[in-house]
Amino acid sequence: MKNKRIYLAPMVGRTDEHYRMFIRILSNNINLYTEMITCDSFIHTDRQSYQVKAKENNLTIQLAGSDPKKYGYCAKMIEDNGYDEINLNIGCPSDKVVRGEFGACLMNSPKLVAECVSEIKGSCDLPVSIKTRLGLGYEEDLDLLYGLIDETSVAGCKKYFIHARNAILNGLSPKKNRVIPKLRYQDVIIVKRRYSDIEFYLNGGLDNISEIQNNISFFDGVMIGRKIYDDPMFLRVIESEIYGNKDIITRDYIIFEYLKYARPLSKKGVSNYMLLRHLFSLYYNTSSAKKWKKFLHDIIQHDKDIMLINDFEESIYEEKISSYS
Ligand SMILES: Cc1cc2nc3c(=O)[nH]c(=O)nc-3n(C[C@H](O)[C@H](O)[C@H](O)COP(=O)(O)O)c2cc1C
Repeated sequence: MKNKRIYLAPMVGRTDEHYRMFIRILSNNINLYTEMITCDSFIHTDRQSYQVKAKENNLTIQLAGSDPKKYGYCAKMIEDNGYDEINLNIGCPSDKVVRGEFGACLMNSPKLVAECVSEIKGSCDLPVSIKTRLGLGYEEDLDLLYGLIDETSVAGCKKYFIHARNAILNGLSPKKNRVIPKLRYQDVIIVKRRYSDIEFYLNGGLDNISEIQNNISFFDGVMIGRKIYDDPMFLRVIESEIYGNKDIITRDYIIFEYLKYARPLSKKGVSNYMLLRHLFSLYYNTSSAKKWKKFLHDIIQHDKDIMLINDFEESIYEEKISSYS
């Protein structure tokens, strides 16, 4: 299974640079994604903030927008900034998409998306991929998706991440759109069989190792979002069961390594909130989960020295010892 690829799903408000550095301590093998970035914000934000860090190998940037020229303009800068791949978001169901700006509604405009792909391909040598849904609304046929793949694959996209649900654009929040439209893995299998020369990655609801193992053997790989965010140590199960990496990494070690990255930033003025907010689930499903959350809250709220997180394991240990006496 070592050649199978697992991707961390792009998640706005989550997969920022600090989270990606945290994830890299847990897994060397997982492929990383940025949060979704609109072409406009990429163009207007200071280049420095999109510079890829050395440890962030295998990093895909996800762009959103509907102007082919802007995609082309971004693509060259993205290549120069060290990213490995450009992904187009054709799956986001937020309110903005109803106004036709980006995301899932572009499933209705496959020729426009193909133009965006062509502009990127004409501006840089990076691979282009698309992340999308099975369809729009309540219809369960696959015609929209086929139309999208037919047009965009001719334009040069050979890799698709399929969130195995439809997107419901009018009335359902993005959060509900990740739960209510039902998961249809079987339909993604049908799509994969139809296009033998194209890579397909299954996404949506993958939250246990046997399901991942089953699907990874059929698809080119899988993409996982919430399970990893809610239970980061699950990455160690993935490392062991998919990649054969049996090294044991303790939470103590993860904190220690993360501080090597975070402390200099903290000294430069990056807030504890930004640096620590993605660490809350580190003790997920353990007896220390609640204490850890409280501990982090206290450090963030009272702006304490970030190095204090190093003391957490010791404080639990001492608590245990004193409970015996
Ligand atoms: C908080 C949050 C933010 C998300 N932001 C994005 C995004 O920026 N781009 C995108 O394509 N999908 C986004 N998604 C959807 C995920 O990438 C993924 O498709 C979805 O959560 C289903 O996968 P999962 O069941 O493994 O979480 C987001 C999901 C969550 C929970």
